[in-house]
Amino acid sequence: MTPSRRRFLLQALIGSGLGATIPRLAFADPWWSDGLLPTPSQTKGPFYPIPEIDKQKYYDADLTRLDEKSPVADGEQIIVRGSVVDLEDRPLNKVIVEVWQACATGRYNHPQDRNDRPMDPNFQYWARIVTGQDGLFSFRTIQPGKYPARTPHIHYRIAPPNQSELVTQMYFENQAEHNRRDGLYMELKAEQRKAVTIGLESQLLDTANPKSESLPTGNFKIVLGS
Ligand SMILES: [Fe+2]
Repeated sequence: MTPSRRRFLLQALIGSGLGATIPRLAFADPWWSDGLLPTPSQTKGPFYPIPEIDKQKYYDADLTRLDEKSPVADGEQIIVRGSVVDLEDRPLNKVIVEVWQACATGRYNHPQDRNDRPMDPNFQYWARIVTGQDGLFSFRTIQPGKYPARTPHIHYRIAPPNQSELVTQMYFENQAEHNRRDGLYMELKAEQRKAVTIGLESQLLDTANPKSESLPTGNFKIVLGS
């Protein structure tokens, strides 16, 4: 049933006096509204980047190397194209989008990470991007490595200029086996899991140039609630 149809039926019930028999939860459920499903909030985790530590002075939108002259990080490169919108699907500009993740071995660049796998000196473990007028952002990275007890994921902090921030995590369809065993992933409702899980398809980096490089690319739409 479409959200409009649901709302119509609820309004009809309220009008007929039968609304009082509808459990209160029905009104608190965000799926009732006509707007988009807000992207769920998830824990920030212990590995939020500390810009002061070595190698974290780089935070541009290419995580696959520290700067243009440095060697390339290990791992399968991917592109994430994202957008930030409000519940009415209006693009939000000047939103700060921070992403941080593990390198190919599953290590974070963070003193709290006691994992003994090696760090990748060429990987830029985080990025800070700002959305444009169209609410769009994109970054180049690698598929994150898996680390104990978690499925591969990328952390996000979304900070709009005049609204509270959202912290969430993004997952990959191609990690379905691990996703199913991940407690944080499985605690989300099915619709929410779908909203934070991206598929990857080969796409040209520059869609207007057929000779440009092709990389696995995924789309992540972030919907900010009120
Ligand atoms: Fe994590």
